Parts: sequence; C-alpha cells; structure tokens
Amino acid sequence: MSNRPDLPPEIARRRTFAIISHPDAGKTTLTEKFLLYGGAIQMAGQVRAKGEARRTRSDFMKMEQERGISVSASAMSFDYDGHRFNLVDTPGHSDFSEDTYRTLTAVDAAIMVIDGAKGVESQTRKLFEVCRLRDLPILTFCNKMDRESRDTFEIIDEIQENLAIDVAPASWPIGMGRDFIGCYDLLNDRLDLMDRADRNRVAQSIRLTGLDDPGLAQHVPAEQLAQLRDEVEMARELLPAFDPQSFLEGHLTPIWFGSAINSFGVRELMTGIRLFGPPPQPQNTAGRQVAPEEPSVSGFVFKVQANMDPKHRDRVAFVRLASGHFERGTKLTHVRTKKQMAVGNPVLFLAADRELADEAWAGDIIGIPNHGQLRIGDALTEGEALRFTGIPSFAPELLQSVRATDPMKAKHLEKALMQFAEEGAAKVFKPMIGSGFIVGVVGALQFEVLASRIELEYGIPVRFEQSQFTSARWVTGPEDRVDAFASVNKGHLAQDHDGDLVYLTRLQWDIDRIERDHPDLTLSATKEMM
Ligand code: G4P
Repeated sequence: MSNRPDLPPEIARRRTFAIISHPDAGKTTLTEKFLLYGGAIQMAGQVRAKGEARRTRSDFMKMEQERGISVSASAMSFDYDGHRFNLVDTPGHSDFSEDTYRTLTAVDAAIMVIDGAKGVESQTRKLFEVCRLRDLPILTFCNKMDRESRDTFEIIDEIQENLAIDVAPASWPIGMGRDFIGCYDLLNDRLDLMDRADRNRVAQSIRLTGLDDPGLAQHVPAEQLAQLRDEVEMARELLPAFDPQSFLEGHLTPIWFGSAINSFGVRELMTGIRLFGPPPQPQNTAGRQVAPEEPSVSGFVFKVQANMDPKHRDRVAFVRLASGHFERGTKLTHVRTKKQMAVGNPVLFLAADRELADEAWAGDIIGIPNHGQLRIGDALTEGEALRFTGIPSFAPELLQSVRATDPMKAKHLEKALMQFAEEGAAKVFKPMIGSGFIVGVVGALQFEVLASRIELEYGIPVRFEQSQFTSARWVTGPEDRVDAFASVNKGHLAQDHDGDLVYLTRLQWDIDRIERDHPDLTLSATKEMM
C-alpha cells in the first residue's frame, strides 16, 4: 500500500473503504453521520427509515429485520472536503463470511468500529483477520464514549494484544460516560467539545498550543484536566506515535474516540481517511498488476445482487473499477465470454438513491444491471484478457438437498437455484446420478434465507433436507485422469453452476485417500472465481 502523489487528481481524491464491526457497535449510526456530512442526506434518521421502507417490500427483508442482521450489501458514494468517498457496506453477520470477504476485495481501507464498553468482539476479530489477509490499512473508531466505557489504556491494550496491531491514539477522551466532555486531538493540538444538547451538531473545536495552553482550563474542569495531562504524558511514552507509512502497511491503526450518535469524533475520522487513507491501489491479475492511472478502463465484479427491484427480474453486478476513466456508454469486453457490452445504464450509488453514472474513475464502484451475464469474479476491460485474482469461492461447510414441494416446479427451481449460485448466495451442485440438487452454504442461516427468497421471488415453496454428504471439493487435473476418476466415482460427483466437477463425501478419510491414490488430481476447498 502506498500513497501515490503522482496519481491523476481525480483518482488521487478517491477513498474506497468498508466499515467492519460487531453488530450493535454503531456502524449504521456512523454511516448515517458520514452521509450527513457528505451532504448526501439532509437529516439523521434517514438511513434507518429508508432501510425500513425497503425492508417492508419483502418477507425476506423482514427476516433480515427480525434477526437484526444485514443480508444485502450496498455501496454508497458521497463527497467530503474535495474527496470522493466510496463506502462499501459489509454484511455484518458471521454466516456471510464469504460475501464479506469478497466485499473486502473491493476496498482499499477499512474502518473498525468498536463499542467503548465492549472492546474487541468476536465479529470484529473475524473481519479484522480478513482485512489482515489483504494487508488493508485500518482506522479505528471507539464509539459510545458518552456511555460508561472501559479505561482508555485498557481499550488500546486489548486491541494491541487481541489483534496484534500497534495502536496510535489520534485523539484522547476527556472523562467518561456522564462526565465525557470531548477529546483532545493529539494530531492537531486541539480541544474538541461534544454538544450533548444537539446530537447533530458538530463539536466545537478550540485550537491550542499544547497541553500546557492556559486556554484548556477554561473548558476542562481541573480534575479532568490533571487526569488528561497525566494520561497523555503516559500515552506518549508508552504508545507509538502515528506513522502514516506503518498505517498504510497495515501494522498500525490510529484510533479516534467519539460518539457517533452525538456526531462526535466523526468529522475527525473522516478527515483521517481523507488525509491518510490510501487512494485507489493497484489490483492483481493473473499476468500483471493493473495500476489505477492506466488510461484503459478495467474492473471486476465482486458482488451480484438479484431482485433489488422486485418489479424487475434484473440483477445488479457491483463492479470495482481498477483502472481508467469510465464514461456512460463505454463499450467494454466481458472477458469470460469475450463479448462486447455497451454499458449504457450503469448506476452509481450516490447515497440516498441510485443515480445513473455518467462517469466513474478507478476506485469507484458502479452497478451494472444485467440479465445474468455478469458473475462474481468476471473482468470487464477495453479488450485485454485480464483475470483479476484473489476473489475466492470457498467450499461450503454445510450441504443440504433441496426439493420443490410441488414436483411440477422442479424445472423452475433449477432456474432459481442457478441464479442464487451466480449471485454467490449459495453453491448449487447437480449430482451426476439421480435428480435434485444439493445446496451448499457457509452458515446455517443461509438455508432459511434461500428458502424464503425462492418462495418469495419465484413462488416455489421448497424443502431443505439433510444430505448424505457433508463436504465438497473441486476436482482438477489432466483431462484423462479426471475422466477416469469420474467414471468410477459417479455416485460422489456433481457439477457446480459453472459446470466444474465437484467431489462430495461425508468422510475426510475419502478425501485423504483420493489425494493419496490419485496424485495427479487436486481436490480443492476453494476455487478462484473467474
Ligand atoms: P450497528 O449498525 O453496528 O448494528 O449499530 P447501530 O448504529 O444500529 O447502533 C446500535 C445501537 O447503539 C443503537 O441503539 C444506536 O442508537 C446506539 N448508538 C450508536 N452510537 C452510539 C453512541 O455514540 N452512543 C450511544 N449511547 N449509543 C449509540 P438502539 O437502541 O439499538 O437503536 P435506536 O433505537 O437508537 O435506533
């Protein structure tokens, strides 16, 4: 990761990031404040209200609401201080780790939100590990400082020990809970005071010369001031100072303390992303790295979402632009099928509503409505046969067979299942022997989500049942060996929605045996999507 001063200004001003957190830490509230300051919404409360209006449209969404989890990811763009922020929403529930992983392939940085009273929670840790795999720079926001929270050093220690990352305080909280009055901004020597009376008011900032500035005593009660001075002195001794390069390399995270609901600390965090956050980074492909400033447009599909609008059976493919300057109508090559696509009606996710994108630059996320041609991992270019790497498909951990309650609907069911497979919502395997399908997911909740969506979106009631298999592995190797293997193992073999061969079993022992007896074959738990 690097900050590239030589990038064209339109690209250099882009920040594409995601927020990672444990449910309830305040991701929605923080997102809302981002949009508010980005001028994308007029009033706090709209994100939630809008979310609810959308949710009432389908039972599937209702389930999402009941469970308090967010199933559908989206992307939002807004401008802040001369910069274009692209915020990609990560699905929050652990059941959707694969989706989350893919989302994180589309961003250059992440904000980790933690609850000041709870510290690092399970889901935060999992998401953090995914970020680490990609060496993503992480900014930390310690939220809910208006409530009783843990001691500041304790919070910082926990992050350092639990996540094995250095933490550099960018601000230091003054008081806690009821007595929390604001923060001392360590990067700018400034006092930021929280306005408790008006939750949407931005903090009052007072510029100071340092902690010895006599002005401090006018705003901070003597006892709190003494504590602040002691703590900051200790922090400066014990904790690393903020180092932009170490941050970009993913070794150090700056932490801001605040209260999203009180709009406190949010602007400082946004300024942190603007100043230190990386601009669009080069992307890896099978043959070479693609630099964002390359004039030729390229991008990859990291998410496909079906039925965003129930009136249309269309899907929207979310594309992260890796390079170039895209203009509406640009003809792009769909690398997998080698077909030209005129992208006439792409959408840019400008906060409140989807708007038609007239132009977009490397780093932006655009949505391309399509009828199923675009799949996760697909590359779009101006002709070059690029294959972006690092977008994996994981072997499902749970398998169940699925049947339509009404046997007359079997054909329709196949269509529905294939669509969900392309969307990445599940793996669908068609066994070589017998009829029916086996569906594989990463988390158990996904079966319920699927059943509910199939019924709602296709009108097909279905039943999921225990499958005789528990593991799936993709089989690759020289063609004749694969054919020979297939001819004697038909009862265990199936094809996925791309037609690739999959070995199904309930015994790890089977997998070990095949690896031993067939050294030419590879049984793989992941498959790069392309
Ligand atoms: P999530 O998306 O990470 O799940 O969290 P969300 O923003 O929905 O926030 C979870 C709860 O925490 C919400 O309360 C929200 O109002 C509250 N919250 C967010 N930021 C702060 C903060 O800075 N201080 C305090 N004290 N609370 C905060 P809720 O009761 O679940 O929802 P609601 O009734 O407020 O909508």
